[in-house]
Amino acid sequence: MKSRKVDVLIVGAGAAGMMCAAEAGRRGRSVLVIDHARAPGEKIRISGGGRCNFTNLGCGPHAFLGENPRFAASALKRYDQHDFIALVNRHGVAWHEKTLGQLFCDDSSRQIVNLLTEEMRRAGAELRLNTSVEAVERAGDGFRATLSDGQGIEAASLVLATGGKSIPKMGATGWAYDVARRFGLRIVETRPALVPLTFEAALLERLKPLAGVAAPDAVARAGEGGRSGRFREAVLFTHRGISGPAILQISSYWREGESIELDLAPDVDVAEMLKARKREAGRQGVVTALSEHLPRRLAEAVAEAEGASGALAERPDARLAAVGAAINRWRVKPVGSEGYRTAEVTLGGVATDELDQKTMQAKTAPGLYVIGEAVDITGWLGGYNFQWAWSSGWAAGQVC
Ligand code: FDA
Repeated sequence: MKSRKVDVLIVGAGAAGMMCAAEAGRRGRSVLVIDHARAPGEKIRISGGGRCNFTNLGCGPHAFLGENPRFAASALKRYDQHDFIALVNRHGVAWHEKTLGQLFCDDSSRQIVNLLTEEMRRAGAELRLNTSVEAVERAGDGFRATLSDGQGIEAASLVLATGGKSIPKMGATGWAYDVARRFGLRIVETRPALVPLTFEAALLERLKPLAGVAAPDAVARAGEGGRSGRFREAVLFTHRGISGPAILQISSYWREGESIELDLAPDVDVAEMLKARKREAGRQGVVTALSEHLPRRLAEAVAEAEGASGALAERPDARLAAVGAAINRWRVKPVGSEGYRTAEVTLGGVATDELDQKTMQAKTAPGLYVIGEAVDITGWLGGYNFQWAWSSGWAAGQVC
């Protein structure tokens, strides 16, 4: 098959790749986007419970992890959350703020996929699905790629936009890391992030009655020294361990062998509350008193585990203090996480010191660009990861 010349070959029709394609196409560049999936933007489609949390009003480098989160500042500033909101508005997509600055589509995440494919179409970018890259090498100042259908592509610019390793079932691969490595770029070790944490069997057995119970307002902490995170959101007990937004957030800071600390009733000093209640109404049950601040099943489980069920008056203050500690300062050591199978994102990736922060171009491999989740920039839960994909894709799209 005769080889074909394009200005820009983008591998990965996800959030970052499609944004980059639309921008480069608008500049008059001939753009070919390939993806091995049957449809573009599959992670966008399933995101945010089908409503896509497409950005966050409070987006900034503070909400990102990586060896050097400040690297993200340039792209995030040049194409920020308000730029993406303006694009969403231009396409007539209705949205709302759910909580903590998180913006979701009113109707469907498919509207965001449609918006991006429409932008690509208007910019003249070509999208080829069910296609992957068999081989890629340097050819003069550019690149030569052989696609899975046998076609050769010569491209001045090559953009790696295949994302991270999370959810392999949906086609996630480590392709961008492999290619980047072959072109001499350093990769920061990857690990699953924004992921539920798991408990060992004996603890799971004890917590069995709690599976499905949520503490709607909890504080979770994990990590040590410079790598530490504290989040106040819901926590959910599961059949495997613990999940919910607060846990997904701290999973990015947690490492094997470390404990996490949970405060399941952060507005109340539970020990003091129980002792005061014992003085005022000693016949009241411990569980009843706790239930004013916790879901009843959680209150029952803690009281039983601490040997403090029954009336307050029957329990010594030391026992009530133990109940308080179990709720306000519960330290527990997860044994692992649910891994890439359920992780929303991948920590690590192409090292930021290998890339130019304004253009996302590799410093030592001119013409090679890395954008989106493949870069060692990982956001908190709440729309930050998509904003990084839009911003980094846009930045590369201005020059590639
Ligand atoms: P992305 O993963 O979007 O795209 C990569 C593309 O490359 C895919 O189309 C894939 O098929 C393709 N590809 C991979 N390997 C390939 C290969 N070897 N050859 C060819 N093509 C290849 N974030 C957020 O901000 N708000 C949210 O609501 C959510 N919700 C959410 C839910 C779930 C379940 C997950 C798993 C993730 C989220 N995220 C999120 C995270 C968000 O989806 C993620 O950060 C972005 O999609 C990353 O965009 P990229 O374009 O970098 O990769």
